[in-house]
Amino acid sequence: MEIKKHWYKEMVVYQIWPRSFCDGNGDGIGDLTGVLSKLDYLQDLGVNAIWFSPLYCSPNADYGYDIADYRNISPEYGTLEQFRQVVQEAHKRGMRIIMDLVVNHTSDEHEWFKKGAADKNSPYHDYYFWRKGKGKNPPNNWKSVFEGGAWEYNKDLDEYYLHVFAKKQPDLNMDNPAVREEVKQIMRYWLDMGVDGFREDVITYISKAEGLPNGIPLPVGTGIEHYTVGPHLYEYLSEFRHDVLDHYDCFTVGEAPMMTPKLARTFIAENDKQVLNLMFHFQHQEADCFLTDWLHTPLSLKKMKKAFSTWQKEMYGDAWNALYIENHDHPRAVDRFGSVRYQKQSAKMLAAMYICQCGTPFIYQGQEIGMTNTTFRSLDEFKDVVTFNNAKVFAKFGIKGERFLKIANKCSREQSRTPVQWDGTENAGFTTGTPWMPVNPNYTEINVADQQKDPDSVLNFYKKLLKFRKENEIVIYGSYEEHCKDSSTLYVYSREYEGKRMLVVCSFTEKPVRFTAPDGFDLSNAELVLQNYDVLYNSNSFLTKPYEVRVYML
Ligand code: GLC
Ligand code: CA
Repeated sequence: MEIKKHWYKEMVVYQIWPRSFCDGNGDGIGDLTGVLSKLDYLQDLGVNAIWFSPLYCSPNADYGYDIADYRNISPEYGTLEQFRQVVQEAHKRGMRIIMDLVVNHTSDEHEWFKKGAADKNSPYHDYYFWRKGKGKNPPNNWKSVFEGGAWEYNKDLDEYYLHVFAKKQPDLNMDNPAVREEVKQIMRYWLDMGVDGFREDVITYISKAEGLPNGIPLPVGTGIEHYTVGPHLYEYLSEFRHDVLDHYDCFTVGEAPMMTPKLARTFIAENDKQVLNLMFHFQHQEADCFLTDWLHTPLSLKKMKKAFSTWQKEMYGDAWNALYIENHDHPRAVDRFGSVRYQKQSAKMLAAMYICQCGTPFIYQGQEIGMTNTTFRSLDEFKDVVTFNNAKVFAKFGIKGERFLKIANKCSREQSRTPVQWDGTENAGFTTGTPWMPVNPNYTEINVADQQKDPDSVLNFYKKLLKFRKENEIVIYGSYEEHCKDSSTLYVYSREYEGKRMLVVCSFTEKPVRFTAPDGFDLSNAELVLQNYDVLYNSNSFLTKPYEVRVYML
């Protein structure tokens, strides 16, 4: 099968969640000055693109995912001038810039919302979903996925507005052509500035079912079936493609909760109907939980393998995967899928496990040094609307106090939002001031500066891995085959490309497990290209060490 080559398939993306990346002016909040000071570091790591979680003006009800001005940089982070400089300096270093496009909703402090809320006859009123209540009740039974009911009452208008996320995140009415024109203008604005593409936030939610019918009752998110991949989603994405994206050399990845490979193909298969380049699905993220991180279950490696393998198989040839294990919405991968006790080994294993698959890898800030979860000591230390909402939801089921704290420490996405640990000095070198969120106290053991000096560090493993991917097309374009499918502790797969083969062996346990090479793979003559333990001699059968990984070229 002839696979179409493209720059976006060859790149590796680094995600910056700006607030916690690097503070350049000592106010305790990450910013663009900080980013500029780390571009050389990112280039040296070997990434080819940066995706910025929202940098726009925002009252921070959802830390930037509630946007008050789509055309400006939040003063906390810097200025437009500085952003232009970041684009220029990144381009100079061969790195592209990807912006977060958050258009399912705005902030309630966006001028469109303020104008529409002040006057029913304003054209901006129909930019959102304003509806009359049903008697004393809201227009339907939908619940927010973040915060109580999905409708907020406005007394002056005697109408409710819809918010699928937080109260301060009113949903845009994408059925209104004027709203779609606004979105296209925003896209052009950033593309014209030199930006190379977008990560499209919950893009599969932008089309709501006609009439906004009642949903199946759920503890949170009632109504979700009426806006996940809604009736006009494809049509709107197609409009964005033809009117905007086709006119630029750019790239898109859409965030797609509950997406299946089959459905994904209708959006990303490489034919004239394609509307997005990639999609972020969540299936492997559900290997240790039920629907949401907050309903934690023990890790099922089989579930995870099945998710990865199905996507690998279904996309191969004429569609492309987005590969990730971490982002700003989940706790750290070492804690979830690896082992804090074997932090170094498991961080490396997880890295090779997903980056050696077929697709475009995304690395989340701090992941490259194997950052782990911290311990929040009381509920007051949390800062996120989702944590607060879950405190209320769990309380309804009698789970409060210490019991809830324990769950929140395991499940909250804030675990990935502690400041990046740059060195062993006070506040991990993240800021000279007081960090907006406390630094994980393990920064004295886990930090960039130390790992740069240590050839055996997680950071240097990432570098080697990215270099290996860059130099070997098999890692980028090779086909994928899973082996040892029945194992609940080993994940083994091979890749094949132009007569070459490679084999990836990953252990997800600290216990020794007997691995035997699959038929047709002679490892005694193979080259071991990446590993996280010393290997004395290659053989076709061995007992694995805790969280061991080996990558062989044949
Ligand atoms: C996406 C973002 C998440 C945000 C939500 C609402 O899932 O990744 O951080 O809270 O959308 O915008
Ligand atoms: Ca700052």
